[in-house]
Amino acid sequence: MSKTFKILRYDPVTEGEAHFESFIHESKPADSILETLKDIRDSQDPSLAFRYSCREAVCGSCAIVINGEIALACRTQVDALEGDVIVIEPLPNLEIQKDLIVDMDPFWEAYRLVEPYLQPEGDVPPKGHLVEEKDMEPVFQYITCILCASCYSACPVATRDGRYVGPAALAKLYRFIKDPRDKRKWASLAKVDTPTGAWGCDTVFRCNDVCPKSVRPADGIEGVRRRLVAQRLKRIVGKNR
Ligand code: FES
Repeated sequence: MSKTFKILRYDPVTEGEAHFESFIHESKPADSILETLKDIRDSQDPSLAFRYSCREAVCGSCAIVINGEIALACRTQVDALEGDVIVIEPLPNLEIQKDLIVDMDPFWEAYRLVEPYLQPEGDVPPKGHLVEEKDMEPVFQYITCILCASCYSACPVATRDGRYVGPAALAKLYRFIKDPRDKRKWASLAKVDTPTGAWGCDTVFRCNDVCPKSVRPADGIEGVRRRLVAQRLKRIVGKNR
């Protein structure tokens, strides 16, 4: 059955107003929104811009807004959407570069700020830093993050303050501070001990709701806050000794 796909368009060359353009398209059974966008691009408008890579919910590059909900285009089936008109928009909270492609730089800058890599102490032992599987259990859910920026785009704090580090980066930091091998120093944690870091979260849990991988970034932010408080107390006690 044919459906109308109302897609937000923006052309950085003409710098005209962002506007919706409608395309009528007949999707095949089980077609995803991503396959539909590719069909529309190939058969109706080769200038239609959108991002994708893996096509199987692994790379995180195809997150967009479909009928008002943030979702991965490759994992959303057209059949599963109600109505004859499907509205497709780029992710909020990030500047549109062209059509459905947004500028991810603020998201990556926040990600870099938290130093998202293992910081063990001392030299690497001959057999590497071994760890028990049970000790990794608290971090498993955070490892599944695919960095699609859905949580960042859904976050009302990021909407009102572009300086906010955002849920994905803070949850990633929690992934490392819960890792028994990670011994990062206070200087690294202090970067998010700020009103635009871990203390910026309003705990409205939109990030948990939209994550396509069922990560719960808000839980990670809570965990980072607990660690910051514990570290601060440790430092105060240490100074008073
Ligand atoms: S194309 Fe990779 S997650 Fe959708």
